[in-house]
Amino acid sequence: MAASDGKPKPWVGERRRHPDRRTAERRAARDRRAGERAPIEGERRTTGERRVGERRKKRDRRTEAGWQPIAIEVASSGTYDDAALVAAAVDAREHARARFSGFKVGAALEMSTGEVVTGCNVENATYGLTMCAERVALYKALSDGRDVFTRIAVVADTEDPTPPCGSCRQLLWEYCGDIEVILANLSDVKRRLRLSQLLPLPFDARLLE
Ligand code: THU
Repeated sequence: MAASDGKPKPWVGERRRHPDRRTAERRAARDRRAGERAPIEGERRTTGERRVGERRKKRDRRTEAGWQPIAIEVASSGTYDDAALVAAAVDAREHARARFSGFKVGAALEMSTGEVVTGCNVENATYGLTMCAERVALYKALSDGRDVFTRIAVVADTEDPTPPCGSCRQLLWEYCGDIEVILANLSDVKRRLRLSQLLPLPFDARLLE
């Protein structure tokens, strides 16, 4: 993605720290000598990084300054404190259909109204059709017409916290935004995070605009 049109690319903040073109060109030549290699995350490609024949990429919105996780900061008006939300997930876990893995998970998803919808994992003999507790809770809530969410508690009987899998992170992100994620086992809360910490560089509808 060379700055070949001469226009500043304000979203490429890193590059602005290197106004010395000759330095950049020397780096580019060195990189070319070192051979083309795939960029590593966090590593800055230098000028001349566009390979011959490489199509100019569409603007990458994810690196724009304006790109922020969807922050849904809606204070809950409900009666569920952390302990109550975790307790709801513990109860839901009892319904888990986990005969293949033996790994029971419960989830409790809180709405902005304060109501809570729970879910447990549901496995089946093909294994692949398994549905995680988090998505069960989410789909129940969505199908009941709920659409503003504040927190989710996830409970498993493990010493280390059990975070949502990649698919659940994606779905929670798209439908709930940057909610709080409480990870607990049967006796303690182990971690409290924002979903954006679990999914820091998300793909979502904004990239399809
Ligand atoms: N599982 C969940 O329900 N949620 C998670 O966050 C992680 C994994 C389920 C899926 C499967 O039934 C079992 O745990 C083992 O992967």
